[in-house]
Amino acid sequence: MLHDVRPAPSDAPLAQAHARLHAALDDVGATLDEVVENAGPARGPMEHLISKRGKLLRPRLVLLSSAIVAGDAVFNPDLAAAAELIHSASLLHDDVIDAGEERRDLPTARVVYSNAASVLAGDHCLTDAMDLIRAVDAETTLAEALSCVRQLVDGELIQLETRGALVTDEAHYRRVCELKTASLFVWAARAGARYAGGSPAEIDTFGEFARDLGIAFQIRDDLLDFIGGERFGKQVHEDLREGRSTLPLILAVAKNPKIIDELPARDSLGVRRVAKLVEETGVLTTVAEEVQTRIIRALERLETFPDTAFRELLTTQIRALG
Ligand code: FPP
Ligand code: MG
Repeated sequence: MLHDVRPAPSDAPLAQAHARLHAALDDVGATLDEVVENAGPARGPMEHLISKRGKLLRPRLVLLSSAIVAGDAVFNPDLAAAAELIHSASLLHDDVIDAGEERRDLPTARVVYSNAASVLAGDHCLTDAMDLIRAVDAETTLAEALSCVRQLVDGELIQLETRGALVTDEAHYRRVCELKTASLFVWAARAGARYAGGSPAEIDTFGEFARDLGIAFQIRDDLLDFIGGERFGKQVHEDLREGRSTLPLILAVAKNPKIIDELPARDSLGVRRVAKLVEETGVLTTVAEEVQTRIIRALERLETFPDTAFRELLTTQIRALG
């Protein structure tokens, strides 16, 4: 979602903010490499996941929240790296829970090493993250990180209760989305804002911004299962084939309960048939509108901060959603 859009060379302040963000992201990468190098027996599975960098969305949120509050290139790359380590821990565990075969175009760490090694490497990532956070702020930011991890765990556990079954309860879906995805976005933005000396009200604003962004991020991912493809780096109908309860499917079943009779849709003909039925209900437009509304609302919240190049950079990256 935070797409990297290179600013036009003529836009000097924005180009400078972009360059500074990238320098800070390089520092985040250096911290991650150092953590991995010092991970002892956990190094193999940690390196396997972490050296193949993702989009570093959560570190970007930490960094840009700080810079927007400070109105300058105030960054703490260690705090940003901690956000990525919490995310990495959750993925190393999640791939065991889901029996995931592939991540970031590679076999998962659990496939290359073992389920046990993946779980333990996840635990290691988590302690490394907490160490980095403690060195920055052993009180509120650490306490909020612990609460965030509990929310991630609760989200995964709640999701486990309905595993293998179609969720028809939209509220259940939204609760999982909030706990499993939005909570770490919220921690990242609040931690960044606090690091830069934001007031309690400013930190709350960043939390609300990130909550909308995190929910939009998850819902957009669900939508891409129907309208994605090469351009968005996501194959269509994978969630449908795997029997995942995405928001479009939940809303479509509420409108046309007959869709349930077509599930589970395992072969490609069945999958295409369900996808067509979902499209016919018109829910894809509803879901796309919700993504847009949440993004607009998230960005509006940031309008209370001075119109700096860093604010524009974050806005540009989020708007490049496509
Ligand atoms: C990916 O979901 C997983 C998460 C967003 C969170 C997973 C959380 C835990 C395993 C709880 C433990 C947390 C920690 C920090 C140790 P997905 O399976 O829907 O997405 P995917 O397609 O990327 O696997
Ligand atoms: Mg998974």
